[in-house]
Amino acid sequence: MSLRGRVSSLLPDFPWDTIAAVKEKAATHPGGLVDLSVGTPVDPVDPLIRSALQSVAEVPGYPTTHGTAELRAAAVAALARRFGVTGVDPAAVLPVIGTKELIAGLPRLLGIGADDLVVIPEIAYPTYEVGALLAGAKPWRADGLTQIGPQNPALIYVNSPSNPTGKVLGLEHLRKVVAFARERGAIVASDECYLGLTWEGEAYSVLDPRVCDGDHTGLLAIHSLSKTSNLASYRAGFVAGDPALVAELLEVRKHSGMMVPFPIQAAMTAALGDDTHEAAQRERYRARREILRDALLQAGFRIDHSEAGLYLWVTRRESCRATLDWLAERGILAAPGDFYGPRSPEHVRIALTATDERVAAAAERLRESRP
Ligand SMILES: Cc1ncc(COP(=O)(O)O)c(C=O)c1O
Repeated sequence: MSLRGRVSSLLPDFPWDTIAAVKEKAATHPGGLVDLSVGTPVDPVDPLIRSALQSVAEVPGYPTTHGTAELRAAAVAALARRFGVTGVDPAAVLPVIGTKELIAGLPRLLGIGADDLVVIPEIAYPTYEVGALLAGAKPWRADGLTQIGPQNPALIYVNSPSNPTGKVLGLEHLRKVVAFARERGAIVASDECYLGLTWEGEAYSVLDPRVCDGDHTGLLAIHSLSKTSNLASYRAGFVAGDPALVAELLEVRKHSGMMVPFPIQAAMTAALGDDTHEAAQRERYRARREILRDALLQAGFRIDHSEAGLYLWVTRRESCRATLDWLAERGILAAPGDFYGPRSPEHVRIALTATDERVAAAAERLRESRP
């Protein structure tokens, strides 16, 4: 094979390209497009975070890959305050340039390769599969341990609350995953991007002592500031957990120049140190969720899971592409379930990330479509 396309041919088609036509159709609505397809924040970055960024804008030197001591201390404190996670060693925190970058590279960074198994959720954020494929490993979709059978995975992803389904894994489930991984010598990577956005019940970090009994061996918790602090544009996240695993990631990332820019580190420190802006953002999403939820139910949709996270996982009990069309006729764009694997052909994902005005417009159009 020529050098061109050697890597990209290993990967699935970029899914967002497949909804370009339906987006065009939705955009012709006289009231304008309501784009609920991507979970990208629309509310401004809090002034506290912006001024932290600006305060170090004149610093010219290279940042450290490990991040400043202040940033790592702020991450440890935020994990304790917000999620009851205790016992995290500040050395076992590593900032990343947005968590998508980490997830796409994680199997490779950990030396996972050919013949290794990477377990991902049945209905999953696509980058787990991408990271496995980039490393030459085998992605394996499983929500339960029996679906893994006698195999010994190298890495097991959990994502609670889930993108796209909003499903939350209970304490017992997470405890079983940790015990199973320890028995089989697997690493658990818990993507906790939506842990701060729980609407019903409680969601748990893998580092919660009720899940791991205070032992972080083999565990990595992945945290993004994109959604909870509106920092998607800054590219800001971190991974924390097993000190030995984090040290290994640090070592490899130091060699690869995977550094979070210094002003972003300062912004992250401020964001992790302040819960007020985070709580205010959560309440904005809560209100939008209520409005969209009621309107979707009135329009005859069924809502599954969705007890947490930034999305409503809905169905009209037909092909997701047909639902996408139905919504596009009303000027609304959603993400089809088939983006998230072959096991969700009849769902679409509705993001809560639009302005209050756009959410109200979508709700109005849905209510007008009452069966
Ligand atoms: C489950 C999940 N993990 C990770 C990410 C990546 O977030 P970021 O790269 O902005 O940190 C996303 C973004 O949508 C996500 O939904």
